[in-house]
Amino acid sequence: MSSGGLAGLVVLVAAVCLLLPTASLAQLKVGFYSTSCPKAEALVRQAVTAAFAKNSGVAPGLIRLHFHDCFVLGCDASVLLSVNPGGGRTERDAAPNNPSLRGFDVIDAAKAAVERSCPGTVSCADIVAFAARDSVNLTGNLFYQVPSGRRDGRVSTENDALNNLLGPNSTAQVLIDGFAKKNLTVEDMVVLSGSHTIGRSHCASFLFRNRQRLASGTISPAYQALLEALCPPNPGQFAPNTTEIDVSTPAVLDNNYYKLLPLDLGLHFSDDQLIRNATLAPFARAFAADEATWKDKFAAAMVKMGNIEVKTGAQGEIRLNCSVVNPGSSSSSAAGIEMLFPSGTSSSDVAAEEVATS
Ligand code: HEM
Ligand SMILES: *[C@@H]1O[C@H](CO)[C@@H](O)[C@H](O)[C@H]1NC(C)=O
Ligand SMILES: *[C@@H]1O[C@H](CO)[C@@H](O)[C@H](O)[C@H]1NC(C)=O
Ligand SMILES: *[C@@H]1O[C@H](CO)[C@@H](O)[C@H](O)[C@H]1NC(C)=O
Ligand SMILES: *[C@@H]1O[C@H](CO)[C@@H](O)[C@H](O)[C@H]1NC(C)=O
Ligand SMILES: *[C@@H]1O[C@H](CO)[C@@H](O)[C@H](O)[C@H]1NC(C)=O
Ligand SMILES: *[C@@H]1O[C@H](CO)[C@@H](O)[C@H](O)[C@H]1NC(C)=O
Repeated sequence: MSSGGLAGLVVLVAAVCLLLPTASLAQLKVGFYSTSCPKAEALVRQAVTAAFAKNSGVAPGLIRLHFHDCFVLGCDASVLLSVNPGGGRTERDAAPNNPSLRGFDVIDAAKAAVERSCPGTVSCADIVAFAARDSVNLTGNLFYQVPSGRRDGRVSTENDALNNLLGPNSTAQVLIDGFAKKNLTVEDMVVLSGSHTIGRSHCASFLFRNRQRLASGTISPAYQALLEALCPPNPGQFAPNTTEIDVSTPAVLDNNYYKLLPLDLGLHFSDDQLIRNATLAPFARAFAADEATWKDKFAAAMVKMGNIEVKTGAQGEIRLNCSVVNPGSSSSSAAGIEMLFPSGTSSSDVAAEEVATS
């Protein structure tokens, strides 16, 4: 065979190998925007880095934002919508998100930068996934590639959030089942809970349940005394008082979270379950003993979480403003817009201009 023929064969085999996986199912891919918006990931990283310099709390906020996005209707930026076109309360209004979820302003800043560079091209869902990765990078001395190509959803309801997000009172069984519903394993659940090595929690998420843990001897009395001192005695959902989830190294994405658990220093009942339950404890012990392994698994599990029920191709839309669906994209919200802009005008062109000029 001539060397030209051999080269041709190699190219052909390579092309078939590249095509096979994409032909079989709609998949995300690393570098999805490399030609359509080559600066997308760098612009998101710049926005996250700038916000992080002013307030390092945006990093845990953005990691949790990605989690709460992916667990409710898939990773489709539904968590960002402040209005559901169908009416009613949104994911953002649900107690597990309100008032604790944060980082929305960082996503808006990243989106504005990306829209200036390549209008109407990069989804809000991908921006959330990139921002979570950058937050891991800034706090954890860790990097992973984020497959992209997600499309944004058009629905966000409080009930979907309440039915899919796990509360801090969850038992081992509830945690395992809640992740299994998303095709995530028991190990993925324990691995990803390690996110609680950074960030803060509101008193209503732990104080009451920890009084029961104090009585049953599953929380350090000194720790609970500290928590009682920083919280009002009867904190409601909106009590502003918070504490760091990892008392030892609250700003570093390390494995100290797992080391605190056997010392009865897990903040939430759900954290404590990781060492009380015989199915979960071996994972928690392994990650306490081996940080490098946990970090590798954490990066892989973040990618896996980022794949939950993603919309690709022609599904969904590329939202122009991450807080609202595109004008005209939903029957219930479109009527008023279509009256304002006669059918000759593409409503998405109009919206692109609005975003670009504001
Ligand atoms: C396993 C089930 C989980 C439960 C029950 C849970 C519960 C919670 C709760 C109650 C808070 C505090 C909210 C507040 O009151 O301010 C919190 C914070 C946080 N969670 Fe989780 N979580 C879970 C899994 C995860 C996962 C999978 C991730 C990410 C991959 C994550 C990332 C975070 C982060 C980073 C914070 C701190 C947020 C901030 O500082 O703004 N959690 N979580
Ligand atoms: C953080 O991400 C950058 C790429 O944006 C990468 O070059 C760097 O190695 C990462 N840092 C660490 C410590 O992994
Ligand atoms: C741990 O959780 C598993 C799964 O929910 C359950 O089957 C098992 O009984 C629990 N074990 C203990 C000791 O609580
Ligand atoms: C889990 O996997 C099954 C089988 O592949 C699939 O039908 C289902 O949609 C997946 N669920 C989620 C939440 O990804
Ligand atoms: C958790 O359980 C405690 C004690 O049973 C209860 O008072 C509290 O409201 C529950 N918290 C949440 C967030 O469900
Ligand atoms: C909780 O937050 C409120 C409002 O910021 C503050 O007045 C109070 O001192 C804080 N601490 C306690 C123990 O209530
Ligand atoms: C996005 O929509 C929200 C809600 O309608 C609005 O407050 C905000 O100004 C819009 N942002 C941009 C950049 O147009």
